[in-house]
Amino acid sequence: MRILVTGGAGFIASHIAERFVHDGHQVTVLDNLSHGKIRHIPPRVHFLQAELASPEVEDLFKTLKPEIVCHHAAQIDVVTSMKQPLADAGTNILGTLALLLHCRNYGVQKFIYASSAAVYGTPMYLPIDEKHPVKPLSCYGISKHTPEHYIEAFSNLYGLDYTILRYANVYGPRQDPTGEGGVISIFLNKIERGEAPVIYGDGQQTRDFIYVKDIVSANAAALTRGSRQILNVSCNQATSVLELLQLLAVLTGKTIVPAYKPALPGDILHSVLNNRAAISALNWSPEYSVPEGLKDTLTSQSG
Ligand SMILES: NC(=O)c1ccc[n+]([C@@H]2O[C@H](COP(=O)([O-])OP(=O)(O)OC[C@H]3O[C@@H](n4cnc5c(N)ncnc54)[C@H](O)[C@@H]3O)[C@@H](O)[C@H]2O)c1
Repeated sequence: MRILVTGGAGFIASHIAERFVHDGHQVTVLDNLSHGKIRHIPPRVHFLQAELASPEVEDLFKTLKPEIVCHHAAQIDVVTSMKQPLADAGTNILGTLALLLHCRNYGVQKFIYASSAAVYGTPMYLPIDEKHPVKPLSCYGISKHTPEHYIEAFSNLYGLDYTILRYANVYGPRQDPTGEGGVISIFLNKIERGEAPVIYGDGQQTRDFIYVKDIVSANAAALTRGSRQILNVSCNQATSVLELLQLLAVLTGKTIVPAYKPALPGDILHSVLNNRAAISALNWSPEYSVPEGLKDTLTSQSG
C-alpha cells in the first residue's frame, strides 16, 4: 500500500514507518523536524520536510496518491500546550484538518490517528474504557481530542475510513528525554548520567506503560482492521513510579537513589486504559510486559 506517515522522524512514527517498509509498503514520511530527527527516518522512505498545513503537502497528495494516512505529527508537550495554546491548536487541530481535506480531495481510503489517554482527563473509574467521559484537563488533551470529531464527521460525510488509537504512556528507544518527555526516557537518561531521577510526590502514582513495538503492531493491524472505531491501545496494567525505578535498578544493575520533590499540581494519581476493544477489533494484543519492554529498550539503546 502507499502510506503517508506523518511525524515519521519522531519517536513513535519512526518505528511505525520502519515496520511498514519492512512489510513491503511504499512509505512517505512527512515531518517538519521541529522535534524529530532525520536519523530516525528509516531507509527506503520518501521524505518531505514540511509543515502539516503547507502547500507542499497538497502537492504530495497529488503526486503520491497515498491510500493510507497514518497521522502522528503533533505538538506533544502538555506544558507547551498551556503556554502556547494557539500554536498547539494550530499544529494538532488545524494541521490535522488540513490533512483530512487532502484525504477527501485526493481519495485516501483510511486515516489512522494517534490520539491519547489525555482526552479522558481525571479518571472517573479504572480501567478507563472508550465510553468513559471525555473531559481533557490540558490544551494538549483538547487539541488531541478535537480532531477525533473532524475524523468522524469526514467519515460520515465523505466515506473516509478511519481508526482512532488512544495511546496510554508509550516508551521505548528514540524517545526524547528532554523537556516533558516520557518518564521512562527521563529516568533512563538520568541513570545513564549518574544523576538522581526525580520523583514528584510519593512515587505511588501509577501509569499504564506500553512498549513502542506494541504500538507499532496496533498500527499495522489498523491498516486492515478497526474500521470506524476509537480504540484504547494500552497494556491495561498499572505500574507505579517507584516500581518502575526498582525495575530499572535491577535491569541496569545500578543503585538508584531518587530525589523527591512535591507532587505536581493537577497530576493524575492513577491511570489505566482498558484495552479489550482493541484486542477484539484489531486482533491484536500487547506482547511486552513492562520488564520485557524496558529490557528491550536498554538492549536497543546500548546496541
Ligand atoms: N509518547 C506518548 O506517550 C504518546 C501518548 C499518547 C499519544 N501520543 C501521540 O503519538 C504521536 C507521536 O508522539 P511521539 O511521542 O512520537 O512524539 P514526537 O515529538 O517524537 O513525534 C512527533 C513528530 O511530529 C513532528 N511535527 C510536529 N509538528 C509538526 C508539524 N506542524 N508539521 C510536521 N511535523 C510536525 C515532529 O518533528 C516530530 O518528529 C503524537 O500524535 C502524540 O500526540 C504519544
